[in-house]
Amino acid sequence: MKKRILTGITTTGIPHIGNYIGAIKPALELAKNSEESFFFLADYHAIIKNQNSNEISDSVKDIALAWLSCGLDTDSSYFYRQSDVPEILELSWILNCVTAKGLMNRAHAYKAATALNNKDPDKGISMGLFSYPVLMAADILMFNSTHVPVGSDQIQHLEMTRDIAIRFNHLFKPLLTIPEPIIQDKEKVILGIDGRKMSKSYGNIIPLLENEKNLKKSIMKIITNSLEPGAPKDSKNCTVFDLYKNFASEDDVINFQKLYDDGISWGDAKDILFNLVNDELEPIRNRYNDLVNDRNKINDLLSDGASKARAIAKDKISEIREVIGIKPIS
Ligand code: TRP
Repeated sequence: MKKRILTGITTTGIPHIGNYIGAIKPALELAKNSEESFFFLADYHAIIKNQNSNEISDSVKDIALAWLSCGLDTDSSYFYRQSDVPEILELSWILNCVTAKGLMNRAHAYKAATALNNKDPDKGISMGLFSYPVLMAADILMFNSTHVPVGSDQIQHLEMTRDIAIRFNHLFKPLLTIPEPIIQDKEKVILGIDGRKMSKSYGNIIPLLENEKNLKKSIMKIITNSLEPGAPKDSKNCTVFDLYKNFASEDDVINFQKLYDDGISWGDAKDILFNLVNDELEPIRNRYNDLVNDRNKINDLLSDGASKARAIAKDKISEIREVIGIKPIS
């Protein structure tokens, strides 16, 4: 069978270098070695968590720009917005009807949300949150995806997708491909400027698409200990060193370690980190600057992507409708 990778990006927040190292770069690398690749903006997933319409639409734009600027090739990949392919929602309903409520009760994200509640376990829980994994299953199963690159927090959702597909295939006809996860961040945690995992919710991100000056500012803000220049520095548990490793070659890492042993100052260490990151991000930033004011171009790319994806989705959904008995009267 053809290897078809597919992954979705929830459109909340602004893209940071943690997303770049942890998700965008490895996914694009994978796309190069796959027969077919599908990347989509999961904007209907985003509205589960965020009902601020401006934040949603800004984030769709920023995240689309991030993938395009990082080199996503829209000729060889499918790149689209989930909301532009309404067949996904149709499939999501159909899958809801074959999904056991008990399976959804076990979802980590839902359980974590109920665990925060005291008296009423349902407080603040929408049906969208509850059936989030079904929509994700529809995203994946719609396109016969064989491999799904995801972060380790999504493994359970992939297992649920498999369960749902197996159930559908058993009840009706084996139309749905059972996908395999490709776990992207096995051990890799990208640290933010305060040394915790880089995350919008901690306010510790280093943005991906900012200009050089702001990139430098963020890097200079990385928290270190207060050892003086000349004092040997420990590269373990060091955010600067950790980030450096994500961008550097093995030889560069060895050299940087020597500088640590020799007591490089934090200012110099951050300068070296900045230069390395900046070299890698510069071409990305240039592509971003070319695109950012060209709304029509971005919209055209997305609508072309949606047409390509919809052609597949339409065929699939008509096969599915047929086997479940939604068909012309005969
Ligand atoms: N739930 C995923 C996340 O938050 C995003 C997502 C939505 C996704 N649909 C998907 C990932 C389908 C892979 C496949 O990261």
